[in-house]
Amino acid sequence: MIDGYINRIIHGNCVDVMRSFPDGCVDLVLTSPPYDNLRNYNGYSFPFQPIVEQLYRITKKGGVVVWVVSDATIGGSETCTSFKQALAFVEAGFNLHDTMIFQKSNPIPQIYRKRYTNVFEYMFVFSKGSVSTHNAIRIPCLHAGLKLNGTTYKNYSKGAQTRTKFASPVRADKLKGNIWEYVVGKKSVDQEAKGHPAPFPFDLAADHIRSWTNEGAIVLDPMCGSGTTCVAAYELGRKYIGIDISRDYCKLSTDRIKMHAQESLFDEPCKELRLQTNG
Ligand SMILES: C[S@@+](CC[C@H](N)C(=O)[O-])C[C@H]1O[C@@H](n2cnc3c(N)ncnc32)[C@H](O)[C@@H]1O
Repeated sequence: MIDGYINRIIHGNCVDVMRSFPDGCVDLVLTSPPYDNLRNYNGYSFPFQPIVEQLYRITKKGGVVVWVVSDATIGGSETCTSFKQALAFVEAGFNLHDTMIFQKSNPIPQIYRKRYTNVFEYMFVFSKGSVSTHNAIRIPCLHAGLKLNGTTYKNYSKGAQTRTKFASPVRADKLKGNIWEYVVGKKSVDQEAKGHPAPFPFDLAADHIRSWTNEGAIVLDPMCGSGTTCVAAYELGRKYIGIDISRDYCKLSTDRIKMHAQESLFDEPCKELRLQTNG
């Protein structure tokens, strides 16, 4: 039964914890794995292949996994870990629904090594079959209301130009593109994550949760770190499940959710559930 895990932060290796979930129980997984040993998260073990297998098993048909990832550069070359992981998801049975980009408005300055400043990470959107929920985000059109001239056709044989069709005014809004830009670590909701080395922005989490789920849906972050996914899911009226292998980060997530829950008078917002782990 999944009920015992709802609105909980669980301390453990996510593979062990997910093994105790029933098949097809999660609407959205939004997560970010450790990147190529770039950071030391208090001594984790990261069993990638079993994680993908469990994610496929527990995702509902039509559900989505958003995997936010980037590569280290080692010995002059990017590791290609992101691409290799994306292919492994497809081999496990997921569709690669969309390769999206998380662009940072304030990237960390880097030492010049004859390459441009790295300003993005991948957000691979995988789906189990065709996506069942997409609440599309729309953005204002730059030239909304502008009345453009009609389309002009050139008749080469007569050397003439004719205007046959008049265009309608530019619409007020359009579908958002798949490059999403955020400021990292500056908003107060993101400052709450201090103490974790690599939180993603609250707004990134909120935009994915809104896009791929409806209220009441179950949102899982199996490597929840500072709990950004869980806080956003909670704020948007979804059910959250967070897992992290680090006790300290579980506490950080729990404290963070409690802060939000106090504001919203939520009944018994979170409990840290400890599982026996192998890792
Ligand atoms: C990139 S961070 C996630 C940050 C998170 N998105 C946030 O906003 O704070 C990756 C997290 O994975 C956790 N982790 C690594 N291996 C794990 C495992 N096998 N099971 C559960 N958590 C794991 C680390 O402790 C770390 O907090």
